[in-house]
Amino acid sequence: MNASSTIAGTMNPLQIITTGGALGAEIRGLDLRRGLDADTVRTLRAAFLEHCVLYYRDQQISQQDLVRFTRHFGKPVAHVRPQPDRPIEEIFVISNVTEDGKPIGALGSEEIPFHSDLSYLPEPGTISLLYALEIPEVGGETMWASGYAAYEALDPTMKDRIDGLNAVHRHPIDALNTPEPTMHPVVRTHPETGRKVIYVSPHLTHHITDMEREDGRALLDELIAHATAERFVWKHRWQVGDLVMWDNRCTMHRRTPFDDRQRRVMWRTQVFGAGTR
Ligand code: SIN
Repeated sequence: MNASSTIAGTMNPLQIITTGGALGAEIRGLDLRRGLDADTVRTLRAAFLEHCVLYYRDQQISQQDLVRFTRHFGKPVAHVRPQPDRPIEEIFVISNVTEDGKPIGALGSEEIPFHSDLSYLPEPGTISLLYALEIPEVGGETMWASGYAAYEALDPTMKDRIDGLNAVHRHPIDALNTPEPTMHPVVRTHPETGRKVIYVSPHLTHHITDMEREDGRALLDELIAHATAERFVWKHRWQVGDLVMWDNRCTMHRRTPFDDRQRRVMWRTQVFGAGTR
């Protein structure tokens, strides 16, 4: 779909240009330093629910702009992994850069396997936004997989088999986990669209409950292989000034590794709880 509407206060037409993949759309015609009128916000929210990932290129925003823009989609909160001495606590820095011997951000330069953000918590993050300040020449790309498309492509026998199952989600860094195991349905229903989603990931889903471990492992591997198949995935090649926002309730994402001698610096915000309504 290619939609167009006019933004109050500018003469630019807002354009929604789909990626042609299973999810994702580029939004053109917005300068995110400016406030948005209610019509524009409504259009963006609807596009977000439809396409699950939206990206905006060539933005030159401050941390305050990013937090203000995030508020159109829910309440930005400080990330659960504290980064001390931040002037704006809702901003989480993702970076491999060290300054004065200290990392300026989290997540280094290694591959981050497919996951939905914070699914190791009982109430995972709903929406994440990531703004690119510095990017490596090669690698460090992010790809998203559509949980809707993956679920809808399952055959009815598999849908019956997995509907009603639960899985334990755990972070590989044990200190980040809650004392009680965190469980989520293997098939969850998006609270705003009502559509069903496969909600397991190679990074954070530990096992399916109430199944023999071997059978559960085999089922999990099969679901993960299916849900991360190329036809459900779209890859974003970052440019400086890109802002990407994604819906963790219906997608998972993966970051490719990059040469640690190159710099990658991003600002991220995180919304929990209520979504885009
Ligand atoms: C993440 O997995 O949340 C980080 C994604 C990225 O660095 O591209």
